[in-house]
Amino acid sequence: MLLCQPAELLGTAWVLLAGLLVLLPPALGAVHRAVAVGSSVLLPGLDNTHSDSMCWEFLNGTGPHPILQHEGGTHTPAIHAPYAGRAVFHPSNGSLLLEDVQQSDSGTYRVTVSSGDRRSLEIQLEVLQPVSRPQLRTSSLLARATGQVVCEVAEGRVDTITWKKDGQPLLPDRVPQLSSSRSVLYLRPAKKSDCGSYSCNASNGISWQETSLEVTIEGLSHRLKHTLRIAVIAVVFAAVSAWGLIIPVCQSEKLRIRGELWRWLSSYTCGLVCIACILDGTAGILWMWEEGPSVVVILPEITLSYLTVVTFLVATTVIFQPTDFSHLKCKKAQRTMGYAAPGAVVAVVLSSTFLIKSIYHRHVEEGCTEFMDVTILVCSAAAVSALPLLAIGLC
Ligand SMILES: *[C@@H]1O[C@H](CO)[C@@H](O)[C@H](O)[C@H]1NC(C)=O
Ligand SMILES: *[C@@H]1O[C@H](CO)[C@@H](O)[C@H](O)[C@H]1NC(C)=O
Ligand SMILES: *[C@@H]1O[C@H](CO)[C@@H](O)[C@H](O)[C@H]1NC(C)=O
Repeated sequence: MLLCQPAELLGTAWVLLAGLLVLLPPALGAVHRAVAVGSSVLLPGLDNTHSDSMCWEFLNGTGPHPILQHEGGTHTPAIHAPYAGRAVFHPSNGSLLLEDVQQSDSGTYRVTVSSGDRRSLEIQLEVLQPVSRPQLRTSSLLARATGQVVCEVAEGRVDTITWKKDGQPLLPDRVPQLSSSRSVLYLRPAKKSDCGSYSCNASNGISWQETSLEVTIEGLSHRLKHTLRIAVIAVVFAAVSAWGLIIPVCQSEKLRIRGELWRWLSSYTCGLVCIACILDGTAGILWMWEEGPSVVVILPEITLSYLTVVTFLVATTVIFQPTDFSHLKCKKAQRTMGYAAPGAVVAVVLSSTFLIKSIYHRHVEEGCTEFMDVTILVCSAAAVSALPLLAIGLC
């Protein structure tokens, strides 16, 4: 047992160095070794003549645990209990083969040879679980808002996580590693330039795994998407009511819609224009809520409010008090009524188009997702608004 006593510090350092430089083949040159759980490790011994006595022990913070004691010669020494059956000693060169290593085998292995002068060599063994494939995920990323891309490793001790964007490494200060297994890339705020393919590489001494993810930034907030939908419906309604205004004008004298039907048609058309004005006004308000007030939106808003009131009055008057309407003598009032509906159609189309264009511009400038598909919305709005018109037409 005297053999296994720790050597003097100076002696240890010297032998360590000597062992490194002279004795060990290059592959085993590192005194620190990392291996995977379940593998076999060959711990190199010190060069020794066969008559030297030699001792292997394990140090892990709870004092030295002897593995074996070899008194020289070629006989195979007894291996101590926890290692019996899974350690093979080679008396010829003093190396020790550990099989099926587990994480609890991590620690320092020391071999001591006493032949006149005592020499020892320490090997730090690290038994690691291979890293599992990292998971990359993002919060929903909206332009101008804070977002994050998270790389997380479920299993295995991770030493480093490195990031790449479109194949280029990201500086480590941009992606702090919060814990050994989690690293977060903050986007504050998210910008279009953040769009791209991100990959994260988690590694430890024995393995690495990489995952990549296509990151897209949404240019439009929910509010702007609603604004867009409302503006689209307003345009469709305005377009359909334009047909309602044009049809009676284009019809031949014989087939001209008259009487009750004319009343219904006018009322419906005016009502539809009125709804289009309200929708467009709402879209304008939502836009200003997001973007702040601006003259190019406020002026149409005022016009639209006025047109909403006029078209509403016309629509209700025609349907509920037709006599009032036909007896309206005042030229000015009649002219106002006659121009209100077509004027409103034009106003709605112009201001909605402006809003849709602005929203599309915003989408292209700040995001990299697909533009919202409005085909279904357009078709259903057109169908809903055109059906009553069709029914009146058929009658
Ligand atoms: C020691 O000897 C064994 C068998 O003789 C061999 O497998 C092993 O590689 C040797 N170790 C070193 C460090 O050369
Ligand atoms: C150190 O190793 C011994 C023997 O392998 C084991 O019984 C003990 O639990 C280990 N102690 C620590 C702190 O790992
Ligand atoms: C991942 O990181 C490891 C360790 O740094 C490195 O060896 C490996 O080449 C990297 N993988 C890729 C694909 O860059």
